[in-house]
Amino acid sequence: MQTKILIADDDNAVRTTVENILTMFGYAVVGVCSGRDVLTTVNDEYDVIILDINMPDLDGFETLDRLNQQNIDIPVLFLTGAGSIDYAVKAINLGAYDFLTKPIDDLDLFNIKIKRAVEKRTYIRQEHLYKKTLEREVQKKTRELAEQNIILERYSEHLEHSTVRLMSSLQAAMEEKDEYTAGHTCRVTDLSMRIADYVDISAEDRLVLRRAAQFHDIGKLVIDLSCIQKSGKLTPEEWELIKKHPEVGAKIVEPLRFMERKSLIIRHHHERLDGKGYPDGIGENEIDLLTRIITIVDSYDAMTSRRNYRRNFSAVQAVAELRQCTGRQFDAELVDIFTADVVPELVTSFQ
Ligand SMILES: [Fe+2]
Repeated sequence: MQTKILIADDDNAVRTTVENILTMFGYAVVGVCSGRDVLTTVNDEYDVIILDINMPDLDGFETLDRLNQQNIDIPVLFLTGAGSIDYAVKAINLGAYDFLTKPIDDLDLFNIKIKRAVEKRTYIRQEHLYKKTLEREVQKKTRELAEQNIILERYSEHLEHSTVRLMSSLQAAMEEKDEYTAGHTCRVTDLSMRIADYVDISAEDRLVLRRAAQFHDIGKLVIDLSCIQKSGKLTPEEWELIKKHPEVGAKIVEPLRFMERKSLIIRHHHERLDGKGYPDGIGENEIDLLTRIITIVDSYDAMTSRRNYRRNFSAVQAVAELRQCTGRQFDAELVDIFTADVVPELVTSFQ
């Protein structure tokens, strides 16, 4: 494409002379007679701007200043007859590229200066192009990465759901073997979520609670539970075996990263506030809110579901038992919520 030059000079004779010289050198030239015309004419297609310094209305310096404000980075050459040092300093400070003296006696020097300015413009254009290409490339890569992330997230979600489904089926199969424990996990999960409705907890914590409740007894999967089904009291050895299930359960889910927080709740769902629980005997300072919820509903369901080695409690009896153990075994505030709000809800829904 032909190199395009914009020249502004209010002196028609000078402007026409410079235009003719530039045309002779093969440039496409547009001439205007004021700084204001430069501002309305200029666009990205121009390669070089030549400005007279002394022009009415907007002089050359003011015109360059406005061009700078509009971020127009076309090299500007000043056309001047008055070669004063003050002019030069001011022009350089404003970012002028070079000077052309008038009258033009050295045509070669004149053309060299124009060529240098054109080269500068080519360099600026290449730089812009490179920047744009780079930006586009970065945007493209960012988009690709985001897309890959979505696929990965979907895959890991799918994997998580499949794992949860598998564990749930195994657990349900285990519970079904004993008609008295059938549905325990579902009930504990449902009751935990009912308490959660009355407590100010985040959506993330609700999910942790749900999953922890769903798998709180998963440790029983690998323990020989034939003793639970027997009639009569459990022997101390059998009790010791049963008491292993929180630890074993936590170990089962430990390798699953999405079960990290739940694994601790599973481990601690038989702990007590007074530190007399198992397996770690931790006290109230170490038992978090979600674990406290599960300990209450787990005990309530154990009391109200029939178990061979213990007589079955009515809802009223179980509530009385929970209240009695408040402070030592269970969180007082949560027992209040459970017994005053959740249990009446349950009783009503069964009527
Ligand atoms: Fe348990």
